[in-house]
Amino acid sequence: MDKKVTLHDKTFKLFIPNEAIEKAIDDVAAKLNEDYADATDEDPVIVLCTLNGAIIFAAELLKRLQFPLMLKACKLSSYAGTQSTGYIKTEVPLPAKLEGHRVLIVEDIVDTGNTIVVMKDLLDAAKVRDSKVCTLLLKPEAYKKDVKLDYVAMEIPNRFIVGFGLDYDELGRNIKDIYVLDE
Ligand code: IMP
Ligand code: MG
Repeated sequence: MDKKVTLHDKTFKLFIPNEAIEKAIDDVAAKLNEDYADATDEDPVIVLCTLNGAIIFAAELLKRLQFPLMLKACKLSSYAGTQSTGYIKTEVPLPAKLEGHRVLIVEDIVDTGNTIVVMKDLLDAAKVRDSKVCTLLLKPEAYKKDVKLDYVAMEIPNRFIVGFGLDYDELGRNIKDIYVLDE
């Protein structure tokens, strides 16, 4: 029988089991460990976790990263219910003193790309030396921007999902697998 969960008024069915997510994180972490092997205590990588969705991905990723890094967070939001509004609000601003640093943006999911474009612009304005994007999930059919997505752990079809940090109106973040809207 299919595993299902109900959040608010909607039902979701099991889509990506936790083991597959963890495996994808192992793979992306291995690439990051190669690419950032030259980081030092004097020049650590700033890992910028985008709240709240990327919290669980960032935690799992950090456990696997073996180079000097500092963890920071910020919060931009664009979603209401199951739709991107296209309008981005800064709810927690970027950390101070990013100038000259290398930044790795850690995102839960890139959908239309509106959020990542704003994030990149903010980092450019903060005069970072380099910024790269690491996202757990990408919806390639929805993504229409030119920003390079440097590290993508998993690609999914253009459907609404919850779990592993992702929410439907704030519920579902604590589900350890990923569930998809059952239509
Ligand atoms: P974008 O700005 O359209 O790329 O949307 C990015 C943000 O929208 C993500 O960081 C998520 O917070 C949210 N989002 C996009 N797709 C989903 C989804 O399928 N489920 C839950 N949240 C999503
Ligand atoms: Mg998010």
